[in-house]
Amino acid sequence: MKPKLYIETYGCQMNFADSDVLAAILAPRYDRTDTYKSADLILMNTCSIRDHAEQKVLNRLREFVALKKRRAGLHIGIVGCMAERMKDELLEEALRVDLVVGPDAYRQIPDLLDQLEAGGGKGLAVALSEEETYHDIIPLRAAENKVSAFVSIMRGCQNFCAYCVVPYTRGAERSRPMDSIVDEVRRLWDEGYREVTLLGQNVNSYRFGEIGFPRLMAEVAAVNPQLRVRFATSHPKDLSDELLEVMAAHANICPAIHLPVQAGSDSMLKRMNRKYTRQHYLQRVAAIRRYLPDVSLSTDIIAGFCGETEAEHQETLSLMREVGYDSAFMFKYSDRPGTFAHRHYTDDIPEAEKTRRLNEIIALQTELSLACNQKYVGRTVEVLVEGVSEKRGHQYIGRNPQNKVVLFEPTEAVVRPGDYVQVRVTRCSAVTLLGELV
Ligand code: SAH
Ligand code: SF4
Ligand code: F3S
Repeated sequence: MKPKLYIETYGCQMNFADSDVLAAILAPRYDRTDTYKSADLILMNTCSIRDHAEQKVLNRLREFVALKKRRAGLHIGIVGCMAERMKDELLEEALRVDLVVGPDAYRQIPDLLDQLEAGGGKGLAVALSEEETYHDIIPLRAAENKVSAFVSIMRGCQNFCAYCVVPYTRGAERSRPMDSIVDEVRRLWDEGYREVTLLGQNVNSYRFGEIGFPRLMAEVAAVNPQLRVRFATSHPKDLSDELLEVMAAHANICPAIHLPVQAGSDSMLKRMNRKYTRQHYLQRVAAIRRYLPDVSLSTDIIAGFCGETEAEHQETLSLMREVGYDSAFMFKYSDRPGTFAHRHYTDDIPEAEKTRRLNEIIALQTELSLACNQKYVGRTVEVLVEGVSEKRGHQYIGRNPQNKVVLFEPTEAVVRPGDYVQVRVTRCSAVTLLGELV
């Protein structure tokens, strides 16, 4: 029996995908477990995107450090974005972790463990790389859902949005070879997966040699017409008509686009260094709807960025109404050390005001989501079944092509995860569609 590895993952889907890469790298020495109580090595795969995300990790870390005092031989490692951002700070006495390893240095973990076991070494590896994509490592997927998988196609980001820590924690943008992506997708299909989401901080700038993102999408879609293909995230400055053409030409590329806008005014977009205007964004939305009339659109919005005036806040609300988003991730601005905003602007919107603006944004989005979902009532939608929802009184749960969660009651019919079924939508809330099997 091998010792046990427990990985606790925070942050974005890239981090969840990386945890499966970590499990693969460590598979020769550890079996992965899903409870920390029996673990010999605990890795926390961390996120730095907002201060709150880091505080959550530090609180949890205190629990693990207390456990370590009682359990000789237990090792604790911090990996991911906080490892990169905080580096040595995490090795200080008070925290007592054994390993601090940034997102591009995971291949070094076995060596660091050897040094640790030999009683030496510092346990720190944080060099960012211009090449590393882990393309040759087959992720050991831990997710229970064997229907839908995330596949990372690129790493890093060099857009340097003024508020964002990612370029500093994940380094320069680099793309994984197309063949290794398509091979992985083929393998997933053979294992029974029916949906893949291609992942990157800015997938539209995927480039491997001559191959850009539209070509990659077409190749992945060709793996099997029964395989649903999704992607995240798109940067509005790079979303091309060529991609929209490819999406329109493939029935199995899902008409759902996550297009983070962040703010609705040109002045804010400029301060945020987003490199597009409100008009450009709205033109992209119009193009999307021209090619994909049935598309669902989601976004990310930040409330209370440095210097945000009430008028700018109102422009964000008006843009949300104009687009009519299906859903949104909405955040209060959090000042991040090292970013352009931290160095050059003042985080001057009082906390209570940020909260008020965020609440207005959330209230509006709830209205918009409900209005979008109501359009599905009475329609029959194709649902890829993911399983049975324990929380929702044993109803089946799945998604339609637009990525909306659909719940439906069991009938006589045998329905298994991975099946496609037709569901007539009878009711909805702002977050789910409810219906019955046709
Ligand atoms: N690469 C993706 C986003 C990654 S981070 C993209 O550009 O779309 C996810 C979201 O977190 C961002 O879209 C932004 O809305 C939010 N975010 C990033 N930095 C933040 C900060 N300092 N404070 C609050 N929200 C932030
Ligand atoms: Fe951050 Fe901007 Fe890069 Fe997205 S595109 S990860 S928001 S710097
Ligand atoms: Fe967080 Fe790093 Fe992802 S900061 S959002 S885990 S890229």
